[in-house]
Amino acid sequence: AGGGGDKIDYVFKVVLIGDSAVGKSQILARFARNEFSLDSKATIGVEFQTRTLVIQHKSVKAQIWDTAGQERYRAVTSAYYRGAVGALLVYDITKRQSFDHIPRWLEELRSHADRNIVIMLVGNKTDLEDQRAVTTEDAKEFAQKENVFFLETSALEATNVENAFQNVLTEIF
Ligand code: GTP
Ligand code: MG
Repeated sequence: AGGGGDKIDYVFKVVLIGDSAVGKSQILARFARNEFSLDSKATIGVEFQTRTLVIQHKSVKAQIWDTAGQERYRAVTSAYYRGAVGALLVYDITKRQSFDHIPRWLEELRSHADRNIVIMLVGNKTDLEDQRAVTTEDAKEFAQKENVFFLETSALEATNVENAFQNVLTEIF
């Protein structure tokens, strides 16, 4: 930006989706504030946080939206996806059911979001390796079949959280 100070070149909206308790809000807390809490409360409605980062010499403000995995607390679907250019589709590697529900989330995403939206499948909680219920291979295979990106993260250990967002934001570019 060259002496422009805090000039923003782009604002990108990215949405987080996935079952309740997979760690969406803590992934966001880690990315936006480098914080983590073990007694995170279920999200009600919609929250969002922003973080500005530099990608390919441009100042990008990432506006990350987070909603409830629980149906009864969810935001109005169409409003949530409106204008989103990226999505993190999150499951918990220790909860098979959260991975089995991914096709449903993908279907919702594809029916409401822009067709060019960049999608990253995220297997969270890799710090709980001894409780793993979804293999990396299964997830990789699914991601390839669905033509989405894939990474495993730990919001607790701050593993790959930065990469997950960086990869999506860079791809949006
Ligand atoms: P909803 O808001 O109900 O949709 O849930 P959520 O997906 O936002 O889950 P949240 O971030 O609130 O995390 C649920 C629980 O998992 C909390 O106890 C978190 O501390 C915990 N958690 C989140 N990420 C991790 C992680 O990487 N490792 C471990 N061990 N626990 C995590
Ligand atoms: Mg939440």
